Amino acid sequence: MNSRRSFIGYSFGAVAGIGALFALGAVKKSADPLPSVRSAGFTSIDLSPLKSGEFAQFEWRKKPIFIIKKSPDMKINDKRDVVIGDDRYMLAIGLCTHLGCIPSWVPSQKMFKCACHGGEFDESGVNTFGPPPRPLDIPPFDIKGTMLVLGESGQAYKKLMNII
Ligand code: FES
Repeated sequence: MNSRRSFIGYSFGAVAGIGALFALGAVKKSADPLPSVRSAGFTSIDLSPLKSGEFAQFEWRKKPIFIIKKSPDMKINDKRDVVIGDDRYMLAIGLCTHLGCIPSWVPSQKMFKCACHGGEFDESGVNTFGPPPRPLDIPPFDIKGTMLVLGESGQAYKKLMNII
């Protein structure tokens, strides 16, 4: 009887131990994702080929990203411009803040127009007309030389967002 009881005791202990190991594995996995998972979601964009006044569209996490290298005749916006050296860039997620359509850049008028309900944004991404309730969102970014790394909340981003 004693040996049967101790057998059951050992078996229970072994099952509990295996369960604990699985639980530990799950905790480690959620607290320490694989490097490839962590690096997914970052997009690096080299800004050096952009010419003054040029608009370019990229993609980050399946969202359109608008970038304009501002020309001297474009409005400065210290609350939104990404400044790298002497250059200023407009950077925004290209989804209208009304209902999510993708506005078009109209270079001759230096503005974005949203075809869905007539919303307009200036060259800094600020809503100027129509139903959009706020400016275009700025994605988290970091600056590394002339590279813009989307998905990383660097100092310049935190400063724009008033986090630091
Ligand atoms: S979705 Fe752009 S104005 Fe409505």
